[in-house]
Amino acid sequence: MLLFDTIFDMQGQSEKYRSQGRKIGFVPTMGFLHEGHLSLMRIAKEKCDELVVSIFVNPSQFAPNEDFSSYPRNFQRDIQLLEEVGATALFMPTQEMMYPKGYKTWVHVEKLDTKLCGISRPHLFQGVTTVVNKLFNIVRPHIALFGQKDAQQAIIIKKMVVDLNMNIEIVIGQLIRETDGLAMSSRNSYLSEEERRDAVVLYQALQLGKRRLMEAGMGKTKILSEIRQLIEAKPTTRVDYIEMHSAKNLAEIGEHPQGDILIALAVFVGNTRLIDNITVSI
Ligand code: PAJ
Repeated sequence: MLLFDTIFDMQGQSEKYRSQGRKIGFVPTMGFLHEGHLSLMRIAKEKCDELVVSIFVNPSQFAPNEDFSSYPRNFQRDIQLLEEVGATALFMPTQEMMYPKGYKTWVHVEKLDTKLCGISRPHLFQGVTTVVNKLFNIVRPHIALFGQKDAQQAIIIKKMVVDLNMNIEIVIGQLIRETDGLAMSSRNSYLSEEERRDAVVLYQALQLGKRRLMEAGMGKTKILSEIRQLIEAKPTTRVDYIEMHSAKNLAEIGEHPQGDILIALAVFVGNTRLIDNITVSI
């Protein structure tokens, strides 16, 4: 695997791949890799000739009171996993390279970035869309892969790519879970034993929501309140939001929705904010 720590060198390598007619698949990450990340890389390997991965804990998507400095990092292990999965290049820029002194340009996708996670983390998606834009300009991929774990992020990035006429195919990989149902996340490493046990309730609550939607009869408000009760019964949890929207574009839905419905939630388990979601087709 080739390792690039300057923008110039990564751009040069991408130019080389392109001039050789090689198809570039790209998986942007913040590192501390797990099976969720690796599943995206395997899809990219199947679809492309070259797999480029980036590891960059992006400061612009964290608020000052959030976990930027404590975000888990383990580069040695990440590099080993990337070798195993067969990545051909790793791009690891520094903060100063990506946001040099005097940096001024931001990309934001209106409306979609002010709901769900955008309410309690108003800076988040502008940071994400800006850094993903920059990474796309550096890696110049043909295909880029994102996970359904971050359903809102996936919808926002797809919209950005269409609106800005980027010639990049966006592929969304399915949400990968631990055997007990907890959605894999780098932030799961923050959980104490008790919190880790309680955290399974997020998945159980989404399953309950799915059952209720499939049974029909019960309205959205009642279902959301049942989900909330189940989660709040655990001693370490505090709900940030639980919502139902159109899975396609996050549009508002009525009391008895039809089509592909996204049930999305964010819950603090102890001090750790976890997100999860499920799509139900009715
Ligand atoms: P990060 O949280 O490291 O996730 C990188 C990619 O892996 C994202 O597309 C995310 O949706 C996907 N992913 C994470 N957990 C997953 C799981 N359990 N199942 C499937 N996919 C999963 O998301 C980011 O980084 C950043 O916002 C980034 C896009 C890199 C921009 O900074």
